[in-house]
Amino acid sequence: MNVTWVHHLPTGAEKGTILTLDLGGTNLRVCTVTLHGNAADTTSPAQNYSLEQKQYKLPSSIKTDTADALWTHIADKLATFIANKNLDKTYNDANKMPLGFTFSYPATQERIDHAVLQRWTKGFDIAGVEDHDVAAQLRNKIAQRNLPLDLICVINDTVGAMVASAYNDPATIVGGIFGTGCNAAYMSSVSSIAKLNPDDSRLKDRDGNVTGQMAINCEYGAFDNAHRVLPRTKYDVQIDEESPRVGQQTFEKLSAGLYLGEIYRLVLLELAERGLIFKNTDAGYEKLRERYCIDTGFLSQVEDDESERFAKTRRLFKETLGLDVVEEEIELSRRVAELVAVRGARLCACGVAAICLKEGIEEGHVAADGSVANKHPKFKKRWAGALGEILDWEAKGKEQDPIIITSAEDGSGVGCAIIAAMEIERRQKHTQT
Ligand code: BGC
Repeated sequence: MNVTWVHHLPTGAEKGTILTLDLGGTNLRVCTVTLHGNAADTTSPAQNYSLEQKQYKLPSSIKTDTADALWTHIADKLATFIANKNLDKTYNDANKMPLGFTFSYPATQERIDHAVLQRWTKGFDIAGVEDHDVAAQLRNKIAQRNLPLDLICVINDTVGAMVASAYNDPATIVGGIFGTGCNAAYMSSVSSIAKLNPDDSRLKDRDGNVTGQMAINCEYGAFDNAHRVLPRTKYDVQIDEESPRVGQQTFEKLSAGLYLGEIYRLVLLELAERGLIFKNTDAGYEKLRERYCIDTGFLSQVEDDESERFAKTRRLFKETLGLDVVEEEIELSRRVAELVAVRGARLCACGVAAICLKEGIEEGHVAADGSVANKHPKFKKRWAGALGEILDWEAKGKEQDPIIITSAEDGSGVGCAIIAAMEIERRQKHTQT
């Protein structure tokens, strides 16, 4: 669990124009976000910010390249965006544009504009970044390229999701990402954060007491790396052993989008190798041997198929894997898809339940983002069912779910901009006092 130096949720009044950079698992996104705050003429939440963005697909080679290649690529995209949007007409060396960076990997922070990468996750394996401050590496590249940007904050996507959602929805209690990776953030009282030094003057109020709150990035994807709690199947073990960071992200490898399709593939492959399925296909099942050739979208479509005699699933197997499947194979593949996805959704509920139990949270909104939450047809229902079981809602006579999953507002764009705006305001107040 990492401290983030985000001291409070937004009031909704935050204002400013910020450039945001989001390094996700597959894309790089650059946005200009203008926060309008509680402008008098704001009648709907969608109006309290405006955003212009550009998404660039990350070349897959970059995930295993060098640090310099990564930062050069990022600086190129920032430079292109700045030029295309004419931002260099407004901003220069003397008047730099504030920049917020959403870096969705585990990082320890001594300040909000500092973040030491603990380890790459989600299949990334770029040399020379782990154990280094990514803020410093990005800042160096920005300076080399002479870009008119001032890096204000580095944030995690979960914190961004929580803050962006809280800007419009005060019932937000947690920001969760259920996508390529999995993780969540919540607000904790500073006095209960054992990792912080109570003598740190930044944590004290005027009377010298440690008060206030701070957002915690749980990084629960790394839960049970010691393999003491969660039962793992041989498929889980194989995925871990073939991953670039063996022994890391145990919880994530059982539940996140990057891995669900791969677990499913390994189950089907074993059944095929044992001569139990795909016996009658002329072309054989060679394609099924290709690692990560099945994504979570495949699983979603199999489970969601209501077409006559599962024609859609049949087509999907043919197009993706070159396999002609028979009725029994479809039935079996639907059942396996369900098992893999149900386990994933129920584990995701455990992560949020742990936060609620720890903090005594009994109601509120879990602002969720990510491909599994948004695209898997049954994820939300399964997640809610499991959360209710753990928190014992039935026994407590709750007629309606007191904690519900909501769709997060754009965390890595808007959330990051709000956090940058809050930080700028905090610094201004600090220099005034
Ligand atoms: C990372 C987290 C991130 C999550 C969702 C995980 O792999 O460690 O920092 O929040 O993915 O993107």
